[in-house]
Amino acid sequence: MILVTGASGTLGRPLTRLLAEAGADVRALSRRAREPGSGVTWCKGDLVTGEGVEDALAGVETIVHCASDAFHAKRDLQAARTLIEAARRQGAPHLLYISIVGVDKIPYRYYKIKYAVERAIEDSGLPYTILRATQFHTLPDAVFAVLTKVPGLMLLPRGLRDQPIEVGEVAGRLAELALAAGPARRVDDLGGPEVLTVEEMMRDYLKARGLRRPVRVPVPLPGRAARAFREGHHLAPDHAVGNRTWRQFLAETHTHR
Ligand SMILES: NC(=O)c1ccc[n+]([C@@H]2O[C@H](COP(=O)([O-])OP(=O)(O)OC[C@H]3O[C@@H](n4cnc5c(N)ncnc54)[C@H](OP(=O)(O)O)[C@@H]3O)[C@@H](O)[C@H]2O)c1
Repeated sequence: MILVTGASGTLGRPLTRLLAEAGADVRALSRRAREPGSGVTWCKGDLVTGEGVEDALAGVETIVHCASDAFHAKRDLQAARTLIEAARRQGAPHLLYISIVGVDKIPYRYYKIKYAVERAIEDSGLPYTILRATQFHTLPDAVFAVLTKVPGLMLLPRGLRDQPIEVGEVAGRLAELALAAGPARRVDDLGGPEVLTVEEMMRDYLKARGLRRPVRVPVPLPGRAARAFREGHHLAPDHAVGNRTWRQFLAETHTHR
């Protein structure tokens, strides 16, 4: 039996579907009560308060921990501790965690918390696997949607690149790791197929949505985190294993609407 936390999220949805299709007995955690889906049993629980977590873990052999609250990042550490403690009491199942490339090198608040969660898992005594991925296509897509709400000139920070990956491909790798024989500690990073500048990505985005906007990249963002992003610590060019490109994602997401 596999428990997926964050099963209602961008990554959790394709992951639970893939696991159920592979014939796994899938339990899905959410803070809301949800109707059962094909091959998926939902459990109501909150990893921050601990409510429902013990019940959700009963009889579970593998946990895939995808739950996160990027707007209240600090809660992610509390949530991980709750999960680890409950897992220890439930016979130490395999804990599989999805992290982000560069969390150990980029002093950005959300990344610092994710790195602390990684270390809590490594020190937990539980059998574990940690996979770091680059940004999902859906993230720059959502950021660009907000930026293009304001009419006129598009101003982007200078020197930023990204290596976006298809979320379904990350779900596929996680499913493979969850269904594998056992824990693998830190596995190879998972990166999208190409490294692009944010300017290139924005131009592709505007084209896919049929918008005409001048794009400028006037100044670099200040601060240590921005510098670390400019240095490319969130990229994994040696692990550019994803298939679906940014343009393919855009074409299928926007062009046919
Ligand atoms: N997005 C990216 O580009 C990217 C890249 C690499 C790695 N990751 C990592 O992948 C993971 C999943 O990201 P995502 O984009 O799928 O996130 P998401 O869409 O925001 O989903 C996160 C889920 O976490 C659940 N959650 C939040 N707080 C919870 C709590 N206290 N207790 C139980 N569940 C809670 C929510 O479910 P309910 O509302 O149903 O409770 C939500 O559906 C995160 O760890 C993220 O850091 C993301």
